[in-house]
Amino acid sequence: MIITVTLNAAIDKTLAVPNFRLGRRHRAVEQASMAGGKGVNVARSLKALGEPVIATGIAGGPTGTRIIEQLTEEAILSDFVRIREESRTSTAVVDPTTGVQTEINERGPEVSATELELFKDKLLYLARGAEFCVFSGSLPRGVPADLYAQLVHELNRLDVTTVLDAEGEALRLAARAEPSIISPNELEAEELVGHEFGDDEDRPAAVREMVELGAREAILTLPTGCIGLVGPDGERGMYRVTIDPGLVDARSGVGSGDAFLAGYVASRYRRRPPDECLRFAVACGAESVQHFGAGVLDPAGVERLLPRAEVHEVPEPAVPTGR
Ligand SMILES: Nc1ncnc2c1ncn2[C@@H]1O[C@H](COP(=O)(O)OP(=O)(O)OP(=O)(O)O)[C@@H](O)[C@H]1O
Ligand SMILES: [Mg+2]
Repeated sequence: MIITVTLNAAIDKTLAVPNFRLGRRHRAVEQASMAGGKGVNVARSLKALGEPVIATGIAGGPTGTRIIEQLTEEAILSDFVRIREESRTSTAVVDPTTGVQTEINERGPEVSATELELFKDKLLYLARGAEFCVFSGSLPRGVPADLYAQLVHELNRLDVTTVLDAEGEALRLAARAEPSIISPNELEAEELVGHEFGDDEDRPAAVREMVELGAREAILTLPTGCIGLVGPDGERGMYRVTIDPGLVDARSGVGSGDAFLAGYVASRYRRRPPDECLRFAVACGAESVQHFGAGVLDPAGVERLLPRAEVHEVPEPAVPTGR
């Protein structure tokens, strides 16, 4: 079983509004709403790929009820802790005439100490039957910044493979708790290692640095693929995977990192070699941009893209001196 954790679950609402202008009244010509939050998106992709997944996290109020109902409608297994305050609705306005997307994300609920304890209990209970646990997305208000660090630490002790896709302080603290896998995008990785990437040499070095910080495997996602330092001790290798973005008809890049991560975890769950896991992940990320909803994925499309993802082994850069 694979667990996904979404502490800030949401309803993602998308409105299509032609000629969207500030200060005007509009009528949406199309609208869609889906259960969201990064962990939920990862669960949706894992379900599409046919892997056993349970989505857990925190949801509250009538919006929380809708999140759980929508997961049930999609036949995604879920077990959320219900809290008093209301879960977020994240609204995206897409103007079909220009393709421009405007997003408004609500602040989200505050989680009390008692509610957080209930969640921790539930996670530790679920973890007893799990092989992987994916922590994705921002932390809600009221929880400590080192929450992911604490949870990674506890699940490592239970021999669960811990996967983390977060940013900022939550990522920085959790990286030190030795998560099995981290997968930041470029901006998140720059913030984690504390410098911007100038030339292309900087990227493999940054992936190496992320492992030095504490992660056992690190994958840097790029709009054109990824660079990963992956594999068990003794068989660890660094690989660069590239795919031509022109191969897909991009409709929405939102959630491509979530589909990528689901692909990597699904492939690891199937015991594929690490470089093949990265190839599969890149094909999943690229396939997902052709669909409107975050985490929506067509496995047949992934298979078609798979041979177009190129994998190259790259020499592992030396540990920077002076550290
Ligand atoms: N326009 C695109 N065409 C093809 N593949 C893409 C495109 N955008 C992203 N991808 C694929 O998706 C993967 C993840 O991309 P990216 O680094 O942009 O994720 P992200 O910023 O974490 O996204 P999010 O957080 O919204 O899920 C990459 O490996 C890449 O191969
Ligand atoms: Mg991401």
